[in-house]
Amino acid sequence: MKHFRQKELEQMPSRFRAHLINSCTGYKSANLLGTISKKGVTNLAVFNSVVHIGSNPPMLGFILRPLTVKRNTYSNFKETGYFTVNQVNKEIITDAHHTAAKYEEDVSEFSKTNLTESYLDDFAAPYVAQSTIKLGCRYLNEYEIKENGCLLIIGQIEHIYLPEDLIHADGWVQLDKAESIATIGLDGYALPTLLDRLAYPKPNEATKSLL
Ligand SMILES: Cc1cc2nc3c(=O)[nH]c(=O)nc-3n(C[C@H](O)[C@H](O)[C@H](O)COP(=O)(O)O)c2cc1C
Repeated sequence: MKHFRQKELEQMPSRFRAHLINSCTGYKSANLLGTISKKGVTNLAVFNSVVHIGSNPPMLGFILRPLTVKRNTYSNFKETGYFTVNQVNKEIITDAHHTAAKYEEDVSEFSKTNLTESYLDDFAAPYVAQSTIKLGCRYLNEYEIKENGCLLIIGQIEHIYLPEDLIHADGWVQLDKAESIATIGLDGYALPTLLDRLAYPKPNEATKSLL
């Protein structure tokens, strides 16, 4: 088995280290964050760090790279207070990946891909029409990760749009039916297969399948 020690991690070429570290913490989600500037220029960027923060109130978080260069997603939601989170599905991986390209702030990634802006219920940020599961979020707060200058951004989930047939009777959403994608590192796109759903485990009781 290959074994990397901390010293080797520090000394390896930075691209190799980035791939290794990004991949070995497991599959991540893939979402497109949609925003619009005060001037009305839309922006779309792929993020693989969106995580559940809490369900009451409904909140999510994501990690934003350090503000050492202009980050359009960040400046837009700071200006307007709103962003959308659009799940990447199998049909849109190439366009989703392309949104990571560095475009100037006056160029919208919507205009450089086949992804389509969609506005729902007067929400102040664009959704992605081709995305099956879409969330409308209000910016709440940010926390600096002092160790590397990244920011943990917290958003309140104000709207959820998804096909009704994905939602089970108890609220659980069957993401594999939506062909939602998981990422491996920053360039691998995988299609997960559901194996089972398991009941909440109780001590000394066999764990039951819910499916
Ligand atoms: C698969 C993938 C996942 C990414 N995840 C993140 C992320 O979680 N946080 C981040 O700050 N950048 C992430 N990026 C990089 C952004 O997509 C990229 O910097 C983008 O240009 C940011 O756009 P903006 O400046 O318009 O906000 C990711 C890139 C790829 C390809």
